[in-house]
Amino acid sequence: MFVNDCLSVNDQGHLTIGGCDTLKLAEEFGTPLYVLDETTIRNTCRAYVNSFKKYYGGNGMPLYASKVLSCKELCRIANEENLGLDVVSGGEIYTAVQAGFPMEKVHFHGNNKTADEIRYALDVNIGKFVVDNLYELELLNRICEEKNKTANISFRIKPGVDAHTHNFIRTGQIDSKFGFALETGEAFEAVKKALTYDNVCLKELHCHIGSQIFDIDPFVTAAEIMLDFMGKIKDELGVVISELNLGGGFGIMYTKEDEPVPYEEYMEKVSVAVKAKAAEHNLPVPYIYIEPGRSVVGEAGITLYTVGGKKEIPDVRTYVSIDGGMTDNVRYALYQSAYTVVNADKADKEPDEIVTVAGKCCESGDLIQEHTKVASVEVGDTLAVLSTGAYNYSMASNYNRIPRPAMVMVKDGEARVIIKRESYEDLVKNDI
Ligand code: LLP
Repeated sequence: MFVNDCLSVNDQGHLTIGGCDTLKLAEEFGTPLYVLDETTIRNTCRAYVNSFKKYYGGNGMPLYASKVLSCKELCRIANEENLGLDVVSGGEIYTAVQAGFPMEKVHFHGNNKTADEIRYALDVNIGKFVVDNLYELELLNRICEEKNKTANISFRIKPGVDAHTHNFIRTGQIDSKFGFALETGEAFEAVKKALTYDNVCLKELHCHIGSQIFDIDPFVTAAEIMLDFMGKIKDELGVVISELNLGGGFGIMYTKEDEPVPYEEYMEKVSVAVKAKAAEHNLPVPYIYIEPGRSVVGEAGITLYTVGGKKEIPDVRTYVSIDGGMTDNVRYALYQSAYTVVNADKADKEPDEIVTVAGKCCESGDLIQEHTKVASVEVGDTLAVLSTGAYNYSMASNYNRIPRPAMVMVKDGEARVIIKRESYEDLVKNDI
């Protein structure tokens, strides 16, 4: 009935998640409320880990891309499920440290790591720095020298695969602020440079071709391009790089129109391509990392809101105002992202009313979804927006001094708070 397996409808016609009545969750914890289903998250983590065993002899590791939702409980779950972590800031590193995450399994990304972040990452013995540019390479080497350390590094490479078109294309040079270009020779020069530095050790090459991708072919093409580059490095420099990180990007269902490819198919096809290319270049089969983010938590999450008002503008549209908005989910305002909205009070009823769901910010563009069909909405109803586990809390703000909502984790009919609701005191705690 719903795009997400963890959702159902109970005898009262209420939407349930992980066996919990969403109306009871709203009553007990207040709205807006982020709700995550633990079973869905753990099952997805296991599917990733098992696919490595099934298709690649276990010779690799998925890293949870924590930018989608960085909090202590998600770090703990990722660790329990044998995933590593991809972090992009000092704050995400700190969160992992606080959760007791094994730092050797953490990769540090970002196109502008500050000197302070680099020092902090070295102090906590982070597993790998994914170096973005030559300035950073030099800075990292210098800081390592000061600290008498050697850092394991990866290079972020632009493989020239654009997956965001209907038919993916290979471009000579993608305009991107991230990484080293292959086509211009920039990436090869960077590899040569890294080999001259004493305090960095080049272990891995990395690429990430985009997000919310439904097609497997661009991933396969990117993997092949990366293997070709590894072959070139071996042939021309006599250096074997033994690890390959293929990034994240696997698409999820926001609405019934979305058709994600089963992840198993990805791993099967990419494994075959990587092994074939390794043989062609006489390279050892590399250890592989992937960095799924959205697909780990996206469909496991929903957001609950209370309807506060309804404004019918004849011949124009009907606005339904909720007690949250772009502060807890900025994705429609930013990208016009499609979402499925469900009237949680009447989840057994056919959607029959077309509404625009508006947030409470002083901003006309503060909308969650326009012209979407829901079962007729009344003031006081609870609305659920589906597939909000990824890039919602992590992109939340305090615009209009609106406190960030709480997040609860549900499992088998039980709910527990994993992130507390912000208070008004929280909002002024840094004000002098
Ligand atoms: N690895 C790297 C290097 C990345 O840059 C990203 C996402 C991922 C992994 C995880 O990709 P995923 O599996 O989640 O697609 N805020 C946007 C998405 C930005 C993606 C940034 N990079 C959104 O809300 O759609």
